[in-house]
Formats: sequence, C-alpha cells, structure tokens
Amino acid sequence: MAVFVEVNGITSLEAGKMKEVMVEDHPVLLARVGDKYYAAQGRCAHMGGVLANGELNGTVVQCPRHGSQFDLKDGSVVRWMHGSGLAYEVGKTFKSPRPIAVYEVKVEKDKILVKLP
Ligand code: FES
Repeated sequence: MAVFVEVNGITSLEAGKMKEVMVEDHPVLLARVGDKYYAAQGRCAHMGGVLANGELNGTVVQCPRHGSQFDLKDGSVVRWMHGSGLAYEVGKTFKSPRPIAVYEVKVEKDKILVKLP
C-alpha cells in the first residue's frame, strides 16, 4: 500500500523552481508552481536524463538531454524529443513516447511528503 513519505532535507521550494530529491532511494523530481507542489520520477522516460537539470515552464518540465517535455500535472508527454537530423529520427524510431510517473504531494507544516506507489 502506498504511503506518504517525508522528503528529507527540504522544507520548502521557491515558486518556479525544481529539484531532485531522494525518496526511499528513488530519485524524485520535486517542483513548485505557484503555491502547488508537484512530484514525478526524477529521470526522463526517454533515456534517463535528469529532469531537475532541465527547464520548468509552468507545469511543463523539459529534459536537458533531448528536449522531451512532460506535464507534471499528469506525466503526459507534451513533446517527445526535440531537434532534427539522423540521431533524432533514429531516437524517435526506437523509443516511442511514454509518460513519466507522477506522485501525489502534500505539505504538512514544514514537511513535504510524497506518495510513492
Ligand atoms: S533523455 Fe530525456 S529527452 Fe532524451
């Protein structure tokens, strides 16, 4: 049964920022958009890019490696890879678009908790 687990070492995040945190040995992307927190798997569904090293625009995170974008509201793919040329065509052919896992987040006083599956 999934339970909420406290994110150690962090009590808040500035709005518009994101950070990779470890929750029970899982890399988790923690982001804050306005007053709401979002959590998702920390690594890109394409080839494992560290999503926290990418860009955050609203609730959309962009992977720093090949530019895939995911919506943190539901993990859906907004764009699968970005660019042109043979490497991108090959990459798109062998790795079909897939979403990232997203996790429920709640804040209790000075604790951020993430619900892992
Ligand atoms: S590893 Fe993220 S887009 Fe390729």
